[in-house]
Amino acid sequence: MSFVDIIRKKRNGKELTQEEISCLIQDYTNQKIPDYQMSAFLVAVYFQGMSANETVWLTEAIMCSGEVIDLSSIPGKKIDKHSTGGVGDKVSIVLAPLVASLGIKVPMIAGRGLGHTGGTIDKLESIPGFRTNLSTAEFKENVADIGVCIASQSEAITPAESRLYALRDVTGTVESIPLIVSSIMAKKLVAGIDGLVLDVKTGSGAFMKEYDKAHSLAKAMIEIGKGMGKPTIALITDMNQPLGKMVGNATEIAECIDTLKGKGPPDLIELTILLGAYMLILADIYSDLEAGKKALRKMLQNGKAYEKFKAIVSKQGGDTASLETFKETAISKKSCEVLCDTDGYVHSIDTFKIGIASNILGAGRKKLGDKIDYSVGIEVLAKIGAKVTKDQPLARLFYANETSCTQAKGLIKEAYKVSAQKASIPVLIQHVMK
Ligand code: URA
Repeated sequence: MSFVDIIRKKRNGKELTQEEISCLIQDYTNQKIPDYQMSAFLVAVYFQGMSANETVWLTEAIMCSGEVIDLSSIPGKKIDKHSTGGVGDKVSIVLAPLVASLGIKVPMIAGRGLGHTGGTIDKLESIPGFRTNLSTAEFKENVADIGVCIASQSEAITPAESRLYALRDVTGTVESIPLIVSSIMAKKLVAGIDGLVLDVKTGSGAFMKEYDKAHSLAKAMIEIGKGMGKPTIALITDMNQPLGKMVGNATEIAECIDTLKGKGPPDLIELTILLGAYMLILADIYSDLEAGKKALRKMLQNGKAYEKFKAIVSKQGGDTASLETFKETAISKKSCEVLCDTDGYVHSIDTFKIGIASNILGAGRKKLGDKIDYSVGIEVLAKIGAKVTKDQPLARLFYANETSCTQAKGLIKEAYKVSAQKASIPVLIQHVMK
């Protein structure tokens, strides 16, 4: 069957065979299928969806598009976490060193910015010298030596995923359950893990804005994880406002450094600690959630988690000295504020618009291959429920050029809804699924 026939078959809502899916991923990886045809296929999947079988076959084909990592020679359980993507979601950068500081092995393959959301890899690359495109041998060596490594999918590991991910980012095809499931599960399962904790976001800044869709996404990923013999736990968590205060790349790394030094924002700490406690359970280190949380909190307070973060940065070629002055040196010096129009309470924040505003400033990509500006971003100064007065700053923008700043400012103003009535604060942890 030709690739055009496969596009037509999917476009007409028919189920593809395992062979068709495997050929299509192989040919795309080997550059026999151009991006414009793959874009048409992605749009067909976006509208027609995929059956449970097709999603498993797609995940397996993407996972096997490059080397599959075998970490069995490294002692101990290897546990990872992945988020479905949000705004200001910097959890992985705090969580990986935090959990590793308790001796758990964390082999993490992470992504770049996608749509309106930021990506762990882009954020880490704002640290001077930090390398994420590692060979499989380096990845293994780092996990063996320091217990943790955060790398990007690459030409060696899930090459099909890195190309599909970049293509989805610029073709409006991100918000599709089978595409998200296969993207996440392929790059998680390829890394030789023994268990996985998923942070499935729901709300205005998530890909799955409605709770029911987030629930279906979580269920589909748990089924694939378990089907492949990897215990998987999913938390459904709120993304109706940015997590923490910072949005961007260097801005978020600065907030991660503060958090790893025990001075982070409460929502980021609460979520990171809970995800970490489930990772400890999957690693059989603690059977009691509260004991795990206590151990993790101690690692944030006693500096061990920050030490582990510095070890990651050093091992991956980053400049550890830069971390000490990061806030002062890596974030743009040009800043302006978005002021509140009226007295009242922050009722809601359209978090999708905050993500888009950050991209407009230059923190994300508009088309394939765009360079991002690590120094720009947003500081959220008022979250939902906050009492605000006229002319009080709601957000601070770190920008590079005036035009993008004006555009982003307008969007942030639109994103904030202030009302006279007290607003209820969204519940951060909405559900835990096993
Ligand atoms: N995160 C991923 O890694 N892939 C997606 O498709 C969405 C979020």
